[in-house]
Amino acid sequence: MSTLFEQLGGAAAVEAAVDSFYRKVLVDDRVSHFFDGVDMDRQRDKQKAFLTMAFGGPHNYTGKDMRVGHAHLVARGLNDSHVDAIIELLGATLRELGVSEDLIGQVAAIAESTRNDVLGR
Ligand code: HEM
Repeated sequence: MSTLFEQLGGAAAVEAAVDSFYRKVLVDDRVSHFFDGVDMDRQRDKQKAFLTMAFGGPHNYTGKDMRVGHAHLVARGLNDSHVDAIIELLGATLRELGVSEDLIGQVAAIAESTRNDVLGR
């Protein structure tokens, strides 16, 4: 049984998706302000490693866990509406890349499973 990572198209697909995803995030007024001052090259690399691991691909993620990585953003008001926006933008990105609705649903479920950690609850 191939992993979600393989079904999505492996490293090249995750690379393209994360690059396109953050282009959307940085122009979306609902969430862009949380990325002020963030080194986006580092952020893209961390997100590629995190999603690769989460999709069942190679585990090379060395970043913070979701609770620790977002605690300072929760202190700045990060809430459910922002997680909703991020999951929506991830779905829109994959749809543009021609990914099937079934796989998009699986990706959204994985992002959704991190909601409480991201929001520190
Ligand atoms: C929905 C699930 C989410 C996942 C899977 C996710 C994943 C990640 C990962 C892997 C990192 C790197 C952690 C590290 O620094 O080592 C990170 C950092 C970050 N995330 Fe998220 N995130 C999510 C939701 C959000 C939301 C909703 C926002 C804001 C709208 C957000 C904004 C950020 C920012 C700004 C950083 C960089 C923090 C910094 O370096 O100061 N994330 N996220």
